[in-house]
Amino acid sequence: MADVKSVGVIGGGQMGSGIAQLAAVAGISVWLEVATNALKNLKCTSNLEDLQSADVIIEAIVESEDVKKKLFSELDRIAKPSAILASNTSSISITRIASATSRPCQVIGMHFMNPPPIMKLVEIVRGADTSNETFMTVKTMAERFGKIIVCSQDYPGFIVNRILIPMINEAFFTLYTGVATREDIDTGMKLGTNQPMGPLELADFIGLDVCLSIMKVLHVGLGDSKYRPCPLLVQYVDAGRLGRKRGIGVYTYGKQQELIKSSSRL
Ligand SMILES: NC(=O)c1ccc[n+]([C@@H]2O[C@H](COP(=O)([O-])OP(=O)(O)OC[C@H]3O[C@@H](n4cnc5c(N)ncnc54)[C@H](O)[C@@H]3O)[C@@H](O)[C@H]2O)c1
Repeated sequence: MADVKSVGVIGGGQMGSGIAQLAAVAGISVWLEVATNALKNLKCTSNLEDLQSADVIIEAIVESEDVKKKLFSELDRIAKPSAILASNTSSISITRIASATSRPCQVIGMHFMNPPPIMKLVEIVRGADTSNETFMTVKTMAERFGKIIVCSQDYPGFIVNRILIPMINEAFFTLYTGVATREDIDTGMKLGTNQPMGPLELADFIGLDVCLSIMKVLHVGLGDSKYRPCPLLVQYVDAGRLGRKRGIGVYTYGKQQELIKSSSRL
């Protein structure tokens, strides 16, 4: 494919808004499909049909295989025949997402890290039928965004989340079994292993719902009980404690923090 001139981004949450920013800064015209909120500097739409002229469409919606497959099947109908359909999925099989379309050679994983404008890496995941042309177009576009590329085979969690999310899950087990406080777990890992954020702090940053979805994909996809999600992580998600984006996760933030402080003073 020639130079990418126009990109559609679906999902206006943490990842989608950052990916749209990257593309706009790289001089590419962007349509961002927003479910709830809007960004001033981009063309925003809540109508998928507006993406029909995009050269590349990047999906960054909820981490659910069924929801993504339904969307990809719609995109297959709407997007122009030459368009590439990319998923920012953290863990779900690109081959299975591609199977919902009639163009599996033009479907690829483009896994940005959070926050996309800051983090240097993009993990590119080729499904069973992804063509070299699709791979080269997406690689060139990611490099235009100023990113470093790594390539992964299409197995659950790819490279980064295959290693990272079990570590986060283990941090939850460490908290759940009373080994240490959340602060000591995070400080221990920050200062003891030279990571910029502790694993529980990072889980709040990623979103506990996203972490749990990825753990479930690893558990089912790799069929090993060592990947079972920690019950405390499950309970936090059930309670709506999704991390920074909700103001409460393992820790509390902003208004939620103020509310808790004032209720404890009553
Ligand atoms: N959070 C991270 O650190 C991170 C990192 C890399 C990849 N990802 C992946 O990116 C994707 C999005 O994650 P996020 O953290 O931005 O989540 P998020 O909850 O912040 O945002 C998801 C957005 O998608 C919208 N949405 C849901 N279903 C939709 C649909 N059918 N059509 C249009 N919009 C829809 C929601 O309204 C929300 O705005 C997931 O697949 C996730 O695994 C997340």
